[in-house]
Amino acid sequence: MNSSDYYSTISIKSDKLSDYLLNLPYNDLYWEDHFGFNASELSLDWLVKDQGLYAIHNLYPIARLGLIKILPNSFYYWHKDQYRLSCINMLIKDQHSHCLFGEERDDYYTDVLELKYKPRTYYLFNNQKQHSVLNFNKTRYMFSLYFKDELNYNLLKDILHPILK
Ligand SMILES: [Fe+2]
Repeated sequence: MNSSDYYSTISIKSDKLSDYLLNLPYNDLYWEDHFGFNASELSLDWLVKDQGLYAIHNLYPIARLGLIKILPNSFYYWHKDQYRLSCINMLIKDQHSHCLFGEERDDYYTDVLELKYKPRTYYLFNNQKQHSVLNFNKTRYMFSLYFKDELNYNLLKDILHPILK
């Protein structure tokens, strides 16, 4: 599995948005169910306040921002997103979790590729490749978004090329 078919690293880091999300009183937020995740919508003001998001939004417009959480001791099943072709993800807080892409190898095995999130780092994510999340003993918080118009991963990779590693 070639990682660049599954995800790409954005070279401009998150600054203000990460500062904010790392210090939230998570329990006081309003959480809604969103495809089995709990999600909390974030203000679009971050599109101009955060240097990384600003760079992405300038190349391809973003419509919605959110924080999503997965409860402890959970495995979110292998799936391809129903409504998203690609997105930008950033891990905010976890203790022990794995984000995996998988390709069926044979009757017994699935080949796996892990996206090892680095701090304050945005990743362009291919939501149309099979993926899953395994989360151990603490709630896992992740930032994610919807672009204004859905576009497949490879086309978006070309558009975001100037800010990809
Ligand atoms: Fe997904």
